[in-house]
Amino acid sequence: MKKQIICLLIACFASASLEAQTIASLASPNKLIEVKLLQSPDKQIQYQIFHKSKEAIAPSSLGFTLKKPVADLRKFTVVRIDSSTFDQTWSPLLGEVKEIRNQYSALSIELKDAGNSGITIQVHFRIYDDGIGFRYTFPKQDNLNHFIVDNEWSTFKMTGDHSAFWIPGDYDTNEYTYNKSKLSEIDASAAAAKEKDIALTAPIGKNFVQSPLMLKSAEGLYINVHEAALLNYPVMHLQVNGNTLTSQLTPDAVGNKAYLQSPFSTPWRTLIIADKAEQILASKLILNLNEPSKIKDSSWIKGQKFVGMWWEMHVGKADWPLASGKHGANTANVKRYIDFAAQHGFDGVLVEGWNQGWEDWFGNWKENVFDFTSPYPDYDIDSLTKYAQAKGLRLIMHHETSGSVTNYERRMDAAYAYMVSKGINTVKTGYVGRIIPRGEHHDSQWMTQHYQRVAEKAAEYKLMVDSHESSHPTGLHRTYPNWLSSEAARGSEFNNAPTLGIIPNHTTILPFTRLIGGPMDYTPGLFHLSLNQFDTTRTQKVRSTLAKQLALYVTIYSPLQMAADLPENYEQHLDAFQFIKDVPVNWDDTKIISAEPGEYVTIARKAKGKDSWFIGSITNENARNISFGLDFLDADKTYEAIVYRDADTADFEKNPEAYIIEKRLVTRVSNMTYRLQRGGGCAVSLKIIN
Ligand code: NOJ
Ligand code: CA
Repeated sequence: MKKQIICLLIACFASASLEAQTIASLASPNKLIEVKLLQSPDKQIQYQIFHKSKEAIAPSSLGFTLKKPVADLRKFTVVRIDSSTFDQTWSPLLGEVKEIRNQYSALSIELKDAGNSGITIQVHFRIYDDGIGFRYTFPKQDNLNHFIVDNEWSTFKMTGDHSAFWIPGDYDTNEYTYNKSKLSEIDASAAAAKEKDIALTAPIGKNFVQSPLMLKSAEGLYINVHEAALLNYPVMHLQVNGNTLTSQLTPDAVGNKAYLQSPFSTPWRTLIIADKAEQILASKLILNLNEPSKIKDSSWIKGQKFVGMWWEMHVGKADWPLASGKHGANTANVKRYIDFAAQHGFDGVLVEGWNQGWEDWFGNWKENVFDFTSPYPDYDIDSLTKYAQAKGLRLIMHHETSGSVTNYERRMDAAYAYMVSKGINTVKTGYVGRIIPRGEHHDSQWMTQHYQRVAEKAAEYKLMVDSHESSHPTGLHRTYPNWLSSEAARGSEFNNAPTLGIIPNHTTILPFTRLIGGPMDYTPGLFHLSLNQFDTTRTQKVRSTLAKQLALYVTIYSPLQMAADLPENYEQHLDAFQFIKDVPVNWDDTKIISAEPGEYVTIARKAKGKDSWFIGSITNENARNISFGLDFLDADKTYEAIVYRDADTADFEKNPEAYIIEKRLVTRVSNMTYRLQRGGGCAVSLKIIN
């Protein structure tokens, strides 16, 4: 890292000006983004961001209030300002591209409380060509050792009343439907009140939203607000006041935000800024702001595709509890899934409802629910493990904690040792319900620490993790690559939710919001789109065409992908199922071909270590034509393209299962043109034939 001291411009504002004065400025490597630091006459420190020399973020103030010691850290004297540059390329173990360049200009400011606490803090900015990250450091110092955060006062001041894609701020769930409105029109309380199917909600209030928050200015500038490297700190929600967003940290059971000890650095606050929506999806800023992998030997970490003893319980064919009389996780049924998975080349079979406790698992804030080592008597785990291994695949174990995290923490070692003894290397965790320790939230500091403990302990046992109902991801899959994926948003299971379900634009918004933080276990691949198959009273429908379900394997990045539907439903459409069999989960390259939040997304990806490419295109409730060139293909090669598209009569409401599969030969000068029907999509596989 090149270091240099940049000149302090303090002299310029020594006069009693009423205006904030610029004290430092620094541009990103290609100068597209510039950060200015300012100090107001009342000693506040602000940052301001320019994109292509135009103001993108207006002067926004920074700071903290502490409860213990009591201190108001919002007015400062400037101690020093440093700048440096950094440029390094690294390779993710599992990812969307082979190599990631981490290139930024760094600007750090050390500040001393202008009051009498004597406390010093630093703010570190990293300025990338596609945005910025900043975080606070509390250095080790005589005036601050242990401390309790009352609030963080980071602000993000927009330059106008931008359009926003948002979900209500909520300390316990991120499983909401996205809303689109102007910042000034956000009514999170009204939006939260419409949600009847989320197990537990704790909405913060009318003007609170969650990150990643996607914004678009009237001039067409895209701004994404989020955080990176969330460790030992609560989740940041955002309070909206006019055009200004202010951090709102999740409180704990007694109303405190974080218990810290110096030296400590907060998570990064991130702003991805671009004038093309595609650049937002291509950004690697969040990953770059996370620490490199902590797992030395990562040879056991693998991308996976799996099927599961899962959806048949959601649609009412089977159930989790043994006492239900239709227990799904019985030996014979799971064998059927193993046979199907082996026949079609899957890596794993998820089994939910395998362990005792489901008779009384939810809603009572009960502590001792599951022990994670006691299978139901009709589930012969030993014979199933052997059966799966003989067929070259593994069971995936489910640990539903029901929010009783103290219970899970006490049992984690035994549970993970049990998994290892059964030859199981992947766990799907779940946090449905009110958290124990009672009063904590899914998003509070204690739970952030828990998710990290799970990733670390699982790594000790060489286990991979897929977390559901955990807090929003912040790029930690770089540091803990065994934490393969999370749900942490409204996943495909909500297709079965009677009230709002999943609306067609949802999957066009996810890449701009939830997926900015990391891979999502969305569980795509539903082929039987009327959900009254086993319970004729159900009126829910999957509001997607079948072809769109295929495209989601490309548009939603995850190194762990489920084929969510039932074997018997796939057997009705084995020709379309071929795409799910072929599509990889790990990639050497990704091209964001075209995208607009709430409207459409088209992405092409190159399979890891292979010459084949896969394309996914999805649309919202509107039909549209998609057309693009294939100049990313190798020169002088001919590819066979298999196009899985909506039939001309397909429509997510009237005829969702109508699709057409066509083959054609293409080269890098060919054009792809196809029509996405309402709520539809298209998936393409391309392989070299000569
Ligand atoms: C919610 C999870 O997201 C889902 O996948 C699971 O089946 C249920 N909880 C039961 O644990
Ligand atoms: Ca869920």
